[in-house]
This record gives sequence, C-alpha cells and structure tokens, in this order.
Amino acid sequence: MLTNFQDVANQFKSFDGTAHSGHINSGGIRDLYDEKFLLWKKRRVPFIKPIPIFGNMFDVCRWETTIGEFCQSVYEKTSEPFIGFFILDEPCLLVNDLDLIKNILIKDFEYFLNRTMANNDKTDGVGSNILFLMKTPKWTNVRRKMTPAFSSGKLKLMLKLMLEGGEQLVEYLNEMTKHNRILEAREICAKFTTNTITSTSFGLEANCFNEENSPFRVVARRLYNWKMTWHAIQTTCFFLAPKLVKLFRMQFIDTFSSNFFRNVFWKTMNERMHQKLIRNDLLDILIEMRKQDEVEDVDTLEGDILVAQAAQFFIAGFETTSSTMSFALLELAQRPDIQTKLRKEITDTKKLHGSFSYESLQAMEYLENTILETLRKYPIVPFLDRRCTKRYKIPGHDLVLEKGDMIYVPTMGIHNDPNYYPNPKQFDPDRFNKRNLEKRHNMTYLPFGDGPRNCIGKRFALLNAKSGLAHLLSNYEVRICDRTEKHMKLDPRGFLLQPDKGIYLEFIKTKE
Ligand code: HEM
Repeated sequence: MLTNFQDVANQFKSFDGTAHSGHINSGGIRDLYDEKFLLWKKRRVPFIKPIPIFGNMFDVCRWETTIGEFCQSVYEKTSEPFIGFFILDEPCLLVNDLDLIKNILIKDFEYFLNRTMANNDKTDGVGSNILFLMKTPKWTNVRRKMTPAFSSGKLKLMLKLMLEGGEQLVEYLNEMTKHNRILEAREICAKFTTNTITSTSFGLEANCFNEENSPFRVVARRLYNWKMTWHAIQTTCFFLAPKLVKLFRMQFIDTFSSNFFRNVFWKTMNERMHQKLIRNDLLDILIEMRKQDEVEDVDTLEGDILVAQAAQFFIAGFETTSSTMSFALLELAQRPDIQTKLRKEITDTKKLHGSFSYESLQAMEYLENTILETLRKYPIVPFLDRRCTKRYKIPGHDLVLEKGDMIYVPTMGIHNDPNYYPNPKQFDPDRFNKRNLEKRHNMTYLPFGDGPRNCIGKRFALLNAKSGLAHLLSNYEVRICDRTEKHMKLDPRGFLLQPDKGIYLEFIKTKE
C-alpha cells in the first residue's frame, strides 16, 4: 500500500522539475484536462506532473527521446512499485516491481490480453492483421494457429535456408573486403536477415547481396525508415494517439508495402499449390494448415490475415534480428578478448560436429550467451505494454485498475539496473551462464517479453542470429576503426532501439 505518499511526492520534486505529488495546480492545466489528469491523484498513486495536450510525452512527440528511454528514466528515478504518467491525456501506469510484472504478463494474463497499440482494420489490411497489433478474440485464434509454425521440428527444417544465407554472407564479405575493409555492419546484417527471412517466409530469393535495390530490400528499408517523416508520424501515433490513427485513416504498413506483400504472397502461394513443391518454409506450413482446417471443417485463415502471417515474419523479424547482430558485432569489436573466446568456441564446435547444423549451433553456449547479453544491453523492443481488459486489483496494494487502463514495463531500465546486473554498461556474456542465471528473478530479462503474448519468433530469431554470427566470425575478425562512433546515439523517431547512424567496423579475414 502506498502509505508514504508525501515521501514519494518529495522524491519526485527533483524530477526535471516536472514531477508531482498528486495535486495539480489548476492554474497550470486547462479545465479540459483536469478530470483525466486527476485520475492518479484520485487513486492515490504517485505520478509525474503532466502538461496540457502532451501529458508527459512532450519530448517523445518532438522526437527528442523514445518511449523506451522515457520509461527507463522514470524507472531509474523511483523506487516505487508503480508510478502514473500520461501519454497525451491518457493515464498510464509504469510497473517496476518484478512480481507485479510477472502477474501482469503471465499469472493474471486473462486481465491483460492486448497491447495498447492502435489497430485500424479499415485502411490497414495487412498491418492490422499481424499478431503484434491484433486484439482478442481474433488474436487468440490466430496465435493458436500460428504457434506450431515455430516448433523445434519446423525450425530444424528452416535452418537449412538460414545456413545458405550464412554462406552467402561470407561470400559477400569476401568480395567486399577486396576493395575496402571498412564496412557498415547494420546494412550487411540487414541484407543477411532480409535474405533469410524472405527465404523462410515467402520461399523466395531476395538476392540482397547481389542486387543493391532488390525489391525485398527496398520494402525492408521503407518499413523502418524513420527519416520518412509521415511514416515516422504515423508509427508514433499507433503508439501514442490511437484516436488520430482512426481519424486520419493511418496505416502501420503503408499501401505500397502491403500491395507488395499481397502480390508476392498470392503469386508464390498459387505457384506452390499448382506445382506441389515442398520447400520446408512458412508457405508450406500455411498450405498444410489450410488443408488440415478443410479436413476438420473449421474456420481457416483467409485473405489479408494469411498474407499478414507471412509479412509479419518480415516486419517483426528482419530489423530486430539484424540490429541484434550488428550491436553484437560492435561489442565484440570493442572486446577482442570476448571475440577470440567466442571464435574458438565456434570453430571448435564446428570441427567436432563436422559442419554448422541445428545440433552444433545449439551446442555453442557462449555464442548464445553473447546474443543474450547483447539483447540485455540493447533490448531492441525497449518496453512492453498491455491494456487492462477487465477490472483488476493489484495484489498487495489498494489500487484497482479499470478496463482500458494502459500498463508499461520499463525493459531497458530493468536491463540496466545495477542491482540485477552489476556494472551494467559492461558487456559480459558470462552473466548468462547457468550459475548466474539462477541467481536472478526471471522478470529481470525481458527482450522477448513473456507470457502468452511473448515473442512468437524468439527461437527463430536466436537461431537465425546464431547462424549469421557463426558464419561471419569463423571467417572474419571485426575491429573498431576511425569511423566507429564513440558514443552511439539512438534514433529517437523509431519505437525500436536503433542507432541513429551506421555502425562502421573493420572486417579482417581470419587465417583459418
Ligand atoms: C532479436 C529479435 C527479436 C526481438 C528482440 C523480438 C522482441 C519481441 C518483443 C519484446 C515482443 C513483445 C512481447 C510481449 O509483449 O510480451 C515481440 C512480439 C512479437 N514478435 Fe518478436 N522479436 C524478435 C524477432 C522476431 C521474429 C524473427 C519474429 C517472426 C518470425 C517475431 C514475431 C513476433 C510477433 C508475431 C510478435 C507478437 C506476438 C503476439 O502478440 O502474439 N519476432 N517480439
């Protein structure tokens, strides 16, 4: 129970001079906002003083900072289990306590079925049908149908396509380093993941290493290009201003990209069914699923829902995985000792197993820990969010959440908390060895979220990143160079954690 309300108030007085104890200066805030802005005070929850129109999102709206960084800064300035803030005029609760987070994500999931993001099915046929944006009850059905596509058996079959991508990556580096050893790691990793994800989802060759403007790479660049201002505004609104999304008929996936995905999907699907080809990719799984649904005479996925399931591999998968790989390369370039140890594990394990395979990649524990530590330091999705879907009393506190209330979890704050990760700026894969893992609460690590709404592609992403890094590091050493940014700044326009500029590194062929 929040008995020390005034203490909390005092603590927050120093919070950029804007934090508040719970009483609002009516002179400072227009009447229009009074009712909503008084909500946390009425519920006796400490909160950060909002300003009209923007609530606490002034800096986020003018792209000075990201929601992830905002949540982190609030987390770092309070020891309260939860604290109120406002996204424009909407009250939100930032939950910091690990047991409460566990309740919301896992134990009491039935009260928090959806994310807070907008969903506009009127004009956003593909975007509104990806699982990330979908709401219950539609989400429940599609998630259940899509889960088997990510089973170990299916992943093993898809790995062959990922390994081919790894070989293409090395060939590309061999060619590029003949001319210049300084290369931009983000673009290289994005080419790799665009190739492997196109191959595993749409069953096609994206050809990004040979064709600078391959159609898949062009669409991929559009999806995460926040320099396109209207695109950045629309995406920001999906997170911050759902009402504007409906009003201005905004799209999460623009018409050009949606049409591209529809055309490619139906063309390939029809060819595949006609020629009865088997490629062990997502299309095969979707064809099989439809056949099975026909036999069992149950509703099957149709139209844009089906297209969206292939497109979401691409949308949710290529940028997240490629950013993880390029952040890992940056850290390894700064820590040659870790890089050497990792390369030894990769080459020794490959020798032992005879090749890169599902089994050999699974056996590379230090590689796995390097990727996990990368995602600790750089959680690509830096916060989690849920919308309360029915009245919920927070256990151990007086607070009752109402249907519609928005909950945020400060992933980046937790991942950088020295109480859980001593010296958090230091990159240390050993934080994830078994002994150290057992010491921590499992909610201290949330790069893929948790509970029934966690990342469905987690194991796929880890396998793809492992394959890419194993190929690259067994053939190349990466070093920092004059063009490597000393203090990397994050791109404040995106909702994912992305560097504002490129990651330039020197790639040197290893002797073996
Ligand atoms: C390193 C790479 C990745 C990271 C860090 C990542 C992270 C996340 C996070 C944090 C969430 C939200 C989880 C939650 O709210 O509890 C999420 C959701 C999701 N991810 Fe990933 N992801 C990655 C790769 C992928 C890949 C490769 C795919 C598909 C092949 C994918 C598909 C999805 C989908 C569909 C959702 C929404 C799930 C739902 O609402 O049911 N992700 N991801």
